[in-house]
Amino acid sequence: MSETRDRLAIIGWPVGHSRSPLIHNHWLAAAGRAPNYVAHPIDPNDDFRAALEGMAAEGFIGANVTIPHKEAAFAAMDEVSVAAQSLGAVNTISFKQGRFMGANTDGDGFLLGLETAMDQAVSAAGWRGRPALVLGAGGAARAIIAALGRAGIGDIRLTNRTRKKAEALTALADNVSVGDWGARQQLAEGCGLLVNTTSLGMTGQPPLDGVSAMLASLGDGALVADIVYAPLETDLLRAARAARHHAVDGLGMLLNQAALSFEIWFGARPEIDATLRAALIADIEKG
Ligand code: ATR
Repeated sequence: MSETRDRLAIIGWPVGHSRSPLIHNHWLAAAGRAPNYVAHPIDPNDDFRAALEGMAAEGFIGANVTIPHKEAAFAAMDEVSVAAQSLGAVNTISFKQGRFMGANTDGDGFLLGLETAMDQAVSAAGWRGRPALVLGAGGAARAIIAALGRAGIGDIRLTNRTRKKAEALTALADNVSVGDWGARQQLAEGCGLLVNTTSLGMTGQPPLDGVSAMLASLGDGALVADIVYAPLETDLLRAARAARHHAVDGLGMLLNQAALSFEIWFGARPEIDATLRAALIADIEKG
């Protein structure tokens, strides 16, 4: 019976590459539960709500949602969290007595990753009182900007190659301003946080240009985060460490958004231990 009860899934299309089963099954096993978390593709042409109802009937109690379904998931919910509402996107669903409850842990997962990094980097604790610069305007940038807004960051600077896309994100938080992609160095002036949410620097993608100029403009001991995790040590993070800033790698957001989802389902935050991190790194290195 344990194979058919209390099941969980990552829903996407395609979804075979997802690391969520590895992460959640580690925590399920650690909690003495059956490792029932699977990858569950849903065709974008299918009725999303009907697909969820089918899953509920098959014994699923919750799911994560990834590309391209986060907006369709939002539209299919009976109730959503504040974070999901502000983004119009859901990454975590709980199936409760025939009702679907949607949350979005991406942004808070990112912030939690920063906090964990700060335990090791006390001098970066002042980042909240300084401006933050976000590079990129895709889905991850949306979640991060909304979370920075909720965290009370008073000066959120945003830049993207396509400026219009950045301008469309200014309503996600108070105090968001947009600058030209070519003005990255000036925008970085005095910032306590720099986040790369673009695909630049990812394996097979072009490098992020202008890194040393941006890093030199940041305030002392800033947090520099990359949401890219393949490679784990991007040129940006390597250069940030060399410039005595604090580097936060892409596993921070990946693991912490997952931990917050697990907490929604089971009421307790799972531990991100060294074994899990090592297993994830080995999996990423396999490609
Ligand atoms: P996600 O949803 O995962 O954040 P995405 O929507 O594919 O990803 O966004 C990719 C980001 O990388 C975008 O901000 C994109 O800029 P554009 O909006 O101008 O496309 C950015 N990006 C990708 N290639 C780039 C390049 N060569 N130079 C600058 N920015 C780039």
